[in-house]
Formats: sequence, C-alpha cells, structure tokens
Amino acid sequence: MNLKGKSAIVTGGASGIGAAIALKLAGYGASVAIIDLNIKAAEKVSGRIEEMGCIGLAVQADISDFEEAGRVAGHVVDTLGSLDMLVNNAGINRDGVVWKMTEEQWDDVLRINLKGYFNYTRHAAAIFRGQKSGKIVNVTSINGLRGKFGQTNYSASKAGVIGLTKATARELGKYGVNVNAIAPGLIMTEMMKQAPQSVLDKALEEIVIGRIGRPEDVAEVAAFLCSGLSRHITGEVIKVDGGQYI
Ligand SMILES: NC(=O)c1ccc[n+]([C@@H]2O[C@H](COP(=O)([O-])OP(=O)(O)OC[C@H]3O[C@@H](n4cnc5c(N)ncnc54)[C@H](O)[C@@H]3O)[C@@H](O)[C@H]2O)c1
Repeated sequence: MNLKGKSAIVTGGASGIGAAIALKLAGYGASVAIIDLNIKAAEKVSGRIEEMGCIGLAVQADISDFEEAGRVAGHVVDTLGSLDMLVNNAGINRDGVVWKMTEEQWDDVLRINLKGYFNYTRHAAAIFRGQKSGKIVNVTSINGLRGKFGQTNYSASKAGVIGLTKATARELGKYGVNVNAIAPGLIMTEMMKQAPQSVLDKALEEIVIGRIGRPEDVAEVAAFLCSGLSRHITGEVIKVDGGQYI
C-alpha cells in the first residue's frame, strides 16, 4: 500500500484505535491531521508521525461543533496541501440501562458519536466532491449491528453511523468517493480498560478466535479502505471482531 502524497484527517487520533490508524496511515506515507479534545496526547502522536518522516498535525477540537469542523477542514487543507481521506473515529460511551438513562447521557453520546461524524463528513464531502476523489472510513461497532445491553444510546449512535455511511456512499459514488464503515468488536483501548472484568470475560467467550482485538487490527483495515486497493468497495460495513458477532 502506498499513501505517499495523500493527506488524512483522523478524529480521536490521540488514543486507542484512532492513534493506531493515524500511525498506520503515516506508515504508508500519508500526512495526518489528528483532531482530538486531548491536545497533549494528539501532539505525542503527531510527534511520532514526524519521527517517521511524515507530516503530522495536531488540532484541538470538539467534533460535535459543526462550524469548528468547517474551520478545521480548511486549516488542514491549508497546512497539508490537500485532503484525501477522512477517518471518523472519535467516540464516547455513557452506559446505563434504558429505564435509568438520563437525557444528558443520551444527548452526549448522540452528539459526539453521530453528529460529530456528520460534521466532518459534511465538510470533507464538499472538498471530495469538488476534487472528484476521496475516502471516508467511519468507525462504528458490532453493537450498532446487534444492540448491547446497557448501551441503547451507544448502539443507536453506531447504527446511525451505518445509515450515514450507506447514504453518503450513494451520494458520493459518482464523484469517485468511497465511503465505508468498520465495525470493531472488543478492542483493548482506554475506552475498554474502564469496563468491568465480567464484560471483558463475556466478550472473550464470544470471540471465536480467542483473543481480544488490538487497535492495530482495526488500523490495517482502515488503511486498506483508505487506499486504492479498495476502489471497488463502497457502502460496506466490515467487522473486525475475531468472529465475536457470529
Ligand atoms: N475499544 C473498543 O472495544 C471499540 C469497539 C467498537 C468500536 N469502538 C469505537 O472506536 C472508536 C475509538 O474508540 P477507542 O476505544 O480507541 O476509544 P479511546 O477512548 O481510546 O479514544 C477516543 C478518542 O476520542 C477523543 N474524543 C472523545 N470525544 C471527542 C470529541 N468530542 N471531539 C474530539 N475528540 C474526542 C478522545 O479524547 C480520545 O482520544 C470509537 O468510535 C468507539 O466507539 C471501540
């Protein structure tokens, strides 16, 4: 795979799956802008990208802010010279059974996990449509496909991302833009380190290949979906879950 001369935005690229994707894209030669609330951690990742001989840019932003997303996209194009790939990845969970869930828990998750993805898609789509090329990769979850106990808000947001992916793929296909989603199963990151041991044990029972996934497992698929090798794939949801969903 060769991504030399291409530029990417990775939201939530300061940690976990997003950091692994940012580093993987740089490993294939891309310039990468990391958009994250946590600027210190984002700068660490962009520093590692610079050490690899690529351009890394760290930008502090909240993906749920629509106007800021437009400014960030413009800043990335001005700084990196182009925008060719968007990886929507930043996400949160605020778990609770539906009969106890607060309005705030619901709104926070939908605002970041779904509207945040729309915000960056909206601004990248305008650029990609104009240049008649581009790649969008949306990180969803197997819990958006099957629903998860205690995660009505999270499951709804991730199911929404799948609808966003498919509709955007239809709209942008004729402009040479591929739009796909990756649905990870359990991947060991900061998000999952907070999960109770019982949740991890149950997931491990479900994962047929018998190991907890790593961020790099997702990153390799994201890089493939950002590359020319996947030019005839669009509107797809690819599970990276060691068979957890089966
Ligand atoms: N870890 C898993 O098991 C798993 C499984 C399926 C899907 N996912 C999805 O993968 C994605 C990445 O998850 P992770 O496990 O790497 O999480 P993580 O918590 O390690 O990283 C998430 C990153 O997003 C950033 N972020 C959060 N809210 C933001 C906002 N409003 N604006 C900008 N940045 C923000 C955080 O600062 C952090 O750097 C998420 O969308 C998550 O839902 C994770």
